[in-house]
Amino acid sequence: MKQETKKTEVKQEKITISVIKADIGGYVGHSSSHPEILEKARALLAKAQKEKLIVDFCVTSCGDDLELIMSHRKGCDAKQIHGLAWEVFEECTALAKKLKLYGAGQDLLSDSFSGNVKGMGPGVAEMEFVERKSEPFIVFMGDKCAPGAWNFPLFKIFADPFNTIGLIIDPSMHDGFKFEVHDIKSDKNFILATPEEMYDLLVLIGSAENYIIKAVYTKKGEIAAVSSTQKLYLIAGRYVGKDDPVLIVRSQAGLPAIGEILEPFAFPHLVTGWMRGSHYGPLMPTSQKQANPSRFDGPPRVIAYGFQLANGKLIGPRDMFDDPSFDYARYEANRIANYMRAHGPFEPHRLPLPEMEYTTLPEVLKKLQERIK
Ligand code: 13P
Ligand code: 13P
Ligand code: MG
Ligand code: MG
Repeated sequence: MKQETKKTEVKQEKITISVIKADIGGYVGHSSSHPEILEKARALLAKAQKEKLIVDFCVTSCGDDLELIMSHRKGCDAKQIHGLAWEVFEECTALAKKLKLYGAGQDLLSDSFSGNVKGMGPGVAEMEFVERKSEPFIVFMGDKCAPGAWNFPLFKIFADPFNTIGLIIDPSMHDGFKFEVHDIKSDKNFILATPEEMYDLLVLIGSAENYIIKAVYTKKGEIAAVSSTQKLYLIAGRYVGKDDPVLIVRSQAGLPAIGEILEPFAFPHLVTGWMRGSHYGPLMPTSQKQANPSRFDGPPRVIAYGFQLANGKLIGPRDMFDDPSFDYARYEANRIANYMRAHGPFEPHRLPLPEMEYTTLPEVLKKLQERIK
């Protein structure tokens, strides 16, 4: 009897998935990553795995962004894990400088590590949970896009019954989900539940430059998705830590099916972040091999790596957009890219003035001011 009580008290060990990413230098320009950089990052994480700091890892790139996918038992915001990522980025930056890659160290905004990479340039998405009997999940990684890029697909995946039939026919999903929304220009966070608060949710997240979905939970409070969205940090007079986001989504058995999670990307919705971070363009789903934004530094890309967790081991990746069923989305994205490009320097291809990363407006206005008679 006593033994039995003890058995039920045994806590299941939690696993943490951390995806930490940074642009530490582009090859060539901002289009892709150098193979030696990826090799270096893999060697460093292999060492950390051997030392049992992490359980498993996968290193990849989306365009010029270096992506570290790690499983470990240290929890979210663990100093050791963030420190490890920082060390990888620093060592890779040193190599990028040697190779004179473009914008070497672009996303490392500080010379010293302070305990957490948040606000220091890199993007972070982390979730901790008890591994289920089968634990499929997908890591989405973007290039040439801002963090608001996930608002549209996350809404479709977890709240739109025309995308996710499970919301209607799966009893374990029928209650809906909870969305954690951040007002990224202030410190305000909101939790909104769907379907009951769907319209309130949409009034916020439809403005993806201001309100961003940070996480999605089941109604019972289980983590379902988390993005690298974070409050913008004003460093050196400009907002940083916001570009080329990542997203983790868990799947199946009470959560959306893998196919329901991928489905929104069949529509290449418009995102900000193309050319000089100052243009709208369609988000094109591609294989990792094809994630090398080149035309006008774009169009924006998204890749999807699928994994099955097995006692913390990352079984995978499966390159989920490496599939002819996304050919039409790519064709559409190219067609939309042509249409948007034809606007040249005119809005709404170019972003509205306050959103642009680059501008000459103050200088031009000053020059013109001097001419006023
Ligand atoms: P399972 O019943 O195997 O979870 O499959 C449901 C499903 O994924 C259909 O797309
Ligand atoms: P990254 O943010 O990917 O470095 O792109 C910079 C850019 O604006 C390229 O045109
Ligand atoms: Mg770059
Ligand atoms: Mg990039």
